Amino acid sequence: MDINKYIKAKKRLIDKALDRYLPSGNLKPQIIHKAMRYAVFPGGKRIRPIFTIASFEACGGKTNSILPVACAIELIHNYTLIHDDLPCMDNDEIRRGKLTCHKKFSESLALLAGDALLTLSFQLLSEAGNLDIIKEVSMAIGSRGTIGGQVVDIVKQKTELDYIASRKTGALFEAAVKAGGLFKGVDRKKIDNLANFGRLIGFTFQLIDDLIDKEGHVALYGAGYVEKRAALLTGKAETYLDIFGKKKAKRLLELSEAILKRQS
Ligand code: IPE
Ligand code: IPE
Ligand code: MG
Ligand code: MG
Repeated sequence: MDINKYIKAKKRLIDKALDRYLPSGNLKPQIIHKAMRYAVFPGGKRIRPIFTIASFEACGGKTNSILPVACAIELIHNYTLIHDDLPCMDNDEIRRGKLTCHKKFSESLALLAGDALLTLSFQLLSEAGNLDIIKEVSMAIGSRGTIGGQVVDIVKQKTELDYIASRKTGALFEAAVKAGGLFKGVDRKKIDNLANFGRLIGFTFQLIDDLIDKEGHVALYGAGYVEKRAALLTGKAETYLDIFGKKKAKRLLELSEAILKRQS
């Protein structure tokens, strides 16, 4: 199966699982469940949970059992996007080609829908029953992780672009990749390697995002420099997969190349 087919197949599984985990839009209070579902569907690339699955597979796991963990990561990502778009943050009206959650519903409902997605994600993680993953994810998205990155981003300290990218985007990627290994219970050495791979790939993901949007690193350093850095970081990231062997790491390697080449 080529990597695009692989991505499509996993995305379908993730979407079906998300649909099962999210409360129905008919359940009281309907409006919040509708707002949560509006933000999650039809959704974006689902790249973080696909990394979680590929990492789990690289460690010898079979997709289905890690779906609750993978979906929890995606719900967290969607919570961060709802809040990121709010008037008090980036004040955006369009996300994934449609009205942002607060434009479609209201600011208060968007705020609460984000909170509810975040809390639902920890319900799923606790049902999956792995305390190491809960700790890892909590640390990744707290004030020294995602939230820390968002803070430095909104106070506009442009000289801290690396800090912003590694926290705002890199931290959740690192946790997403690491979760696959933690769920399979592989040894510390493999976990550390997955963490290093995830951290560098997450950072690269943000660099490529800056290239697509012509913002951030690109505005400061120029596209040529950012392209070179992204390629270099991807090469470095891939060295951390050596201990898994080419065959087992195949999908992680292909995904990291896909990130480097992505245009949207
Ligand atoms: C957007 O993330 C925000 C960043 C951290 C760059 P994605 O590009 O993964 O967004 P979706 O989920 O595919 O829409
Ligand atoms: C969003 O970052 C990152 C998080 C929500 C953590 P940006 O503000 O740079 O991304 P877009 O452009 O809104 O997707
Ligand atoms: Mg932002
Ligand atoms: Mg934004």
